Amino acid sequence: MRLTPVNLLFEDSRPGRRTVRTPGADRSLATAGLPREELREKPVAWPEMGELDLVRHFTRLSQRNYAISTNFYPLGSCTMKYNPLVNEAIAGQGAWSGLHPLQDDSSVQGALKVMHDLAADLGEATGLPGVTLHPAAGAHGELTALMVLRAWLDEQGEDKRRTILIPDSAHGTNPASCTLAGFKVVSVKSDDMGLTDMDDLRTHLGDHVAGMMITNPNTLGLFEDNIAEICELIHQTGGKVYMDGANFNAIMGIARPGDFGIDMMHLNLHKTMSTPHGGGGPGSGPICVTEELTKYLPTPAVVKTNGKYRLRTPEASIGRVRAFHGNFMVLLRAYSYVKRLGAIGIRRVAENAVLNANYLRVKVRDHWRVPHDRICMHEFVARPTMEMREAGIHTMDVAKRLMELGYHPPTVYFPLVINEAIMAEPTETESRETLDGFAEAMIQVAKEAIAGEEFLHAAPRNMPVTRVDEAKAVKNPNLRYQHEA
Ligand SMILES: Cc1ncc(COP(=O)(O)O)c(C=O)c1O
Repeated sequence: MRLTPVNLLFEDSRPGRRTVRTPGADRSLATAGLPREELREKPVAWPEMGELDLVRHFTRLSQRNYAISTNFYPLGSCTMKYNPLVNEAIAGQGAWSGLHPLQDDSSVQGALKVMHDLAADLGEATGLPGVTLHPAAGAHGELTALMVLRAWLDEQGEDKRRTILIPDSAHGTNPASCTLAGFKVVSVKSDDMGLTDMDDLRTHLGDHVAGMMITNPNTLGLFEDNIAEICELIHQTGGKVYMDGANFNAIMGIARPGDFGIDMMHLNLHKTMSTPHGGGGPGSGPICVTEELTKYLPTPAVVKTNGKYRLRTPEASIGRVRAFHGNFMVLLRAYSYVKRLGAIGIRRVAENAVLNANYLRVKVRDHWRVPHDRICMHEFVARPTMEMREAGIHTMDVAKRLMELGYHPPTVYFPLVINEAIMAEPTETESRETLDGFAEAMIQVAKEAIAGEEFLHAAPRNMPVTRVDEAKAVKNPNLRYQHEA
């Protein structure tokens, strides 16, 4: 019989039978406090197999997964870049993974230093010195910042200000977070350039406005040129400006949001700073705020006094937003990433991310319609040309055909302000050869689209799952595991 921790719960009271124990483990600890009648009578019958079969099983599963470590993953708005393995190795060291969040501060000074110094570096990079590392994702950062905003408004006696302005190109989490935080959302139009329409923005200003949430670079991959003026207008009206910093990869080391007037922002460390993501977890969405708003940040914050790191509750803290200290292992990877690259390396990341996106944009623009065909940031949006549409081809057909050609498709049908959008974000970690290969695939599909629609409608033919009825899959999901024939 194989001994597993679960077997600790097995107590065999039959005469002559031994009680199963895991060597070295204290059985009474595992069963302490559990009612006797709840204990297992028999050990769990785990499936038995040799190591080689197990290795093959997991290797096969991993090969069915499309990942950045297998091929190009130009998923716009997601920054699917290569995360240096050295940061994984550091996070995997037992010195870190063996820590317990309830340990005394004096025994975890190294971990507190990591959090303290990472917060200082993020504050420096954003120009917003108040930093909390607690939020577990970008959306959680948005919610946390809006709670900070509410606390600030309430203290100013401005509790009637409950409207947040959000450009119509925003990511869906922005309005969702506002609603969750008890604010009303008013949408601001984008202009012909793909930027916030300044005239429309002015019509929404007033003493009901709590603030504005703006993504910069925005979800069309464009830098909001009027950002300083937007911040000024919102401040004049009595509100604060929140920047969705999910796209910080394009500007870090080059522009500091605090310098152009932003009051609060979040960072997606799992996109920008070296944590593999996708599949839902674990992430980290620290928020950075101005000096004025620092006292409202969640508890606890790490401070350094007399050469020692300790935990402190900010003066007017909104309270806890997460158990313990956020996702520490993500913070550790980000710390390692920032320290290894340094200020110059971080800037080069952003420069190359922008360079690669522009390289790709220019390569495909004669075959695709690029609605805002000028210098973009880290990503760009394209859409099928009129000829492709007349041939009956939709963006979804293109995405499926790219899968057949071995590429993860770019983001499709987002942002919503562009009909039939396809949004590519190559990231800084890809080589010119990879970009050329992908551009050729995009051009090939554009030509095929014009040549014959049925061919594309049938894609993908070489995937474990071929074309599915997307609408039916959402409305009537079949979640049962089906064994392959
Ligand atoms: C622009 C933008 N804002 C916010 C988010 C939300 O981040 P998270 O998925 O970490 O909650 C995303 C995620 O894709 C995003 O692209």
